[in-house]
Amino acid sequence: MKLIAISGSLRKVSLNTRLIDLMIEVAPDGAQIDKAMLHEIPLYNGDLEEQQGIPAGVESLRQRIKKADGMIIVTPEYNAGMPGVLKNALDWLTRPGSEMKPTFGHRPTALAGATPGAFGTAFAQAGSLINLRQLGCNLYPDYLRISKADQLMPQGGDVDGKLRQQVAEFLEGFVAFVRG
Ligand code: FNR
Repeated sequence: MKLIAISGSLRKVSLNTRLIDLMIEVAPDGAQIDKAMLHEIPLYNGDLEEQQGIPAGVESLRQRIKKADGMIIVTPEYNAGMPGVLKNALDWLTRPGSEMKPTFGHRPTALAGATPGAFGTAFAQAGSLINLRQLGCNLYPDYLRISKADQLMPQGGDVDGKLRQQVAEFLEGFVAFVRG
């Protein structure tokens, strides 16, 4: 089974991108996780779309999403919402409008997030549901919310054992959901 995990952070030392790396390490047998970053997605601008069409970075991410049996959005929370870079990427991926359904429609989708703070990105995840429902994703009812992630995944240090277990169990659940 192929999964794609999209990081909502552009930072080199992002906790969320490290959470994807951890997912890759503990993924259940038979599940491959493709780590997708958003550095190649320009800001959405209808003029750019009209003049140059869909940017190569957007098209390439779309093809990777289409190849995946399931999608995991692994994102920080900024001011209680999803970061602009992630919303921007989702917006591009719905262009042209005829591509929205083939890209997102019925695609099993899970939300995960890490923060040094206390609420595990719960507000961003709750808000994202509105957008992901609009796109037609088949939403996994469980969430992965990692609080105090800077302590559980210290830079250059070992990942907390309970976190490793929690991520492995989350993935097992999501893989079962994707299998149906
Ligand atoms: C944050 N951060 C943050 N954290 C949180 O739990 N809830 C929030 O609402 C916010 N808001 C917020 C806004 C902005 C503009 C920034 C830059 C940061 C802190 C955030 O969780 C922290 O910087 C994470 O480390 C960002 O994720 P990555 O880049 O480590 O994956």
